[in-house]
Amino acid sequence: MRSVTCMLLLGTCILVLGPAVKGVLSQCPEHCHCHGDLQHVICDNVGLKKIPQVSEATRLMNLQRNNLGSIPTGAFSTSKGLISLHMQHCQLREIESQAFKGLKKLVYLYLSNNKISSIKSGAFEDLTELTYLYLDGNQITELSKGIFSPLINLFVLQLNDNRLRELRPGTFAGTKDLRWLHLSGNELTTLHPGSLDDVENLALFHLDNNKLSTYPTAAMSKLRVVEELMLGRNPMKTIPDNAFQSFGRYMEKLHLDNMGLERFSAGAFTGVKAMTVLHLHNNKLKSLPSAMQLDTITNMTLFNNSWSCSCQLAPLRKWMDSQQDETDVICASPPSQKGIKVRDSTVFKTCETKEEQKPKTKTKAKRKDKGQKTRKGKAGRRH
Ligand SMILES: *[C@@H]1O[C@H](CO)[C@@H](O)[C@H](O)[C@H]1NC(C)=O
Ligand SMILES: *[C@@H]1O[C@H](CO)[C@@H](O)[C@H](O)[C@H]1NC(C)=O
Repeated sequence: MRSVTCMLLLGTCILVLGPAVKGVLSQCPEHCHCHGDLQHVICDNVGLKKIPQVSEATRLMNLQRNNLGSIPTGAFSTSKGLISLHMQHCQLREIESQAFKGLKKLVYLYLSNNKISSIKSGAFEDLTELTYLYLDGNQITELSKGIFSPLINLFVLQLNDNRLRELRPGTFAGTKDLRWLHLSGNELTTLHPGSLDDVENLALFHLDNNKLSTYPTAAMSKLRVVEELMLGRNPMKTIPDNAFQSFGRYMEKLHLDNMGLERFSAGAFTGVKAMTVLHLHNNKLKSLPSAMQLDTITNMTLFNNSWSCSCQLAPLRKWMDSQQDETDVICASPPSQKGIKVRDSTVFKTCETKEEQKPKTKTKAKRKDKGQKTRKGKAGRRH
């Protein structure tokens, strides 16, 4: 079977391109190193100007650091066996329609650190096995609707450090198995409602270092299983009610640092049940919502905020007392507490005392009961 296919392929080649091609395809491309009977073709930084033609036998081609400029239509038409293609640092500006045509076995595609600003529609046609796509460090401002739609097996999409300004519905159409989406370091101001509907199985979503000034509740509400969400370095002043609700049972890591964040709505953390890591440093927070569940958290950064050391902060102080690490968390108000470490503040003693002073343990038990009911009640309403 295999030799028949080979003969057919070579036959076609000879017919179309003339007999010279057979010789070219069975040799290691000029200036490159090849291993394992041309299975690996390594052309890292060898001054190539054109994408070399290799045969179906080649599994991996490394073209890093060559000045290639663009990927024309059909550039890989003879390289049908490629599984891994490396094209980082190739000064690529454009990816033409059907640039990767024929690469039906490709699993890894590395296009990081180029100057790609334009990806023509149909660019990713035929890449049905592609699982990892790296496009970080480029100049992409826009992704056209359905651009990724051939990529039905895509698992990781790396788009950090580009110039995306918004996400529109249909951008991720077809990539229903996408699990890791990296969008850090773009210029995103808007995730339109519906823009994440096609990627409801995202587990890791990095949106830090963008320009989001409001939390994109509608778009986010379609995500169901996010385990790690990074939102730091967005100029967002508040986190609204139910922000994380649709995936709250799964969310373990949440990064909200360096945002100038001033407050959480009372129900901001509704549905969040499994959080272990929460980063809140370098913000302007005064307090945390009283309904927030802190007991699952093992790693929380709190420094450089505007903590108001009053009884509302008592649950946080209690959490701090249960932790080993002793980072400085300073009270910013009220005036009597300003500059005092939360750990050293005597305010919280008063809060505890108040509770203990409430006559009789019965009352205390009752109050606890009530608290639980309230929480259950809220959960009930959600479902
Ligand atoms: C404290 O956080 C603010 C943002 O809320 C930031 O601008 C400032 O640089 C931070 N200070 C330090 C010492 O990191
Ligand atoms: C907390 O998490 C951050 C990253 O998420 C990590 O760098 C740090 O070491 C963790 N700290 C502890 C005490 O586990």
